[in-house]
Amino acid sequence: MAIRSVSHVIKGIPTLEGGGFLVHRPFPSGALSDFDPFLLLDEMGPMDVRPGEAKGAPDHPHRGFETVTYMLSGSFRHKDSQGHEGKLESGDVQWMTAGRGVIHSEEPSKEFQQTGGTLHGVQLWVNLPKTDKMIRPHYQEIPAGKIPSARTSDGNVVVHVVAGESLGVQAVIETRTPIFYLDFRLEPGGKVVQPVARDFNAFAYVIEGPVLFGGHTAHVQRGNMVPFKRDGDEIRIEAPRENQSPARVLLIGGRPLNEPIARYGPFVMNTPQEIHEAFEDYRSGRMGSIDF
Ligand code: CO
Repeated sequence: MAIRSVSHVIKGIPTLEGGGFLVHRPFPSGALSDFDPFLLLDEMGPMDVRPGEAKGAPDHPHRGFETVTYMLSGSFRHKDSQGHEGKLESGDVQWMTAGRGVIHSEEPSKEFQQTGGTLHGVQLWVNLPKTDKMIRPHYQEIPAGKIPSARTSDGNVVVHVVAGESLGVQAVIETRTPIFYLDFRLEPGGKVVQPVARDFNAFAYVIEGPVLFGGHTAHVQRGNMVPFKRDGDEIRIEAPRENQSPARVLLIGGRPLNEPIARYGPFVMNTPQEIHEAFEDYRSGRMGSIDF
């Protein structure tokens, strides 16, 4: 077995999204356009929001990929052109397969707007293989309590398994191509080694730092993404003993699709012609609308 080494460290770029909420986006960016099969990573917040001031992303389309929303604090309401509606609370995951197209809105819930509070979440875009880009849209919505978790034998590391497998525990979410999405919490001095298939691309995103990866000696602070080289079949994460509070790291990986990418805003297809068709379908109303 060989421990993967850190390729480089990417700081999330502050970006305004949707109705004007601040996200930190490590990619796509000048440093990294995509990380096959992943297309985008946004950390929303954490931010303290006063009553009535939370912002969201009003009606917008998606085609050709999946959006994975992981709420860490606060609450969002989701509505779409399929007549689907749901609320995401702290710790809940929504894995939305946009397929041939949905129009949806992602807005802070009414209750959250009334009380205000801390808003914090992560959104990942997962590319779909050519054969799945035009499938019927569907959702997997998993409340926090249904996300399997496990603990290392020394009790110092807990993992929540959103996708894939870790510490002998299997996720309940099904993915279209092989993917893992793991949320590790490490007590000071906690260590964990996660097996990773040799052909997977994998990265870590630090929610609470500092942490150490592989043989890399520099501490990685919160808000940083770490792509790993494909030079091993294990990833090692460690929280320095001198940390004052638990560290938290998302570890995400998947088998690359190795297919051409044509992307424009909310559409990700294989050819420019297919992007053009997506715009035509959106403009002519063939992706539907939110009428409830
Ligand atoms: Co969206």
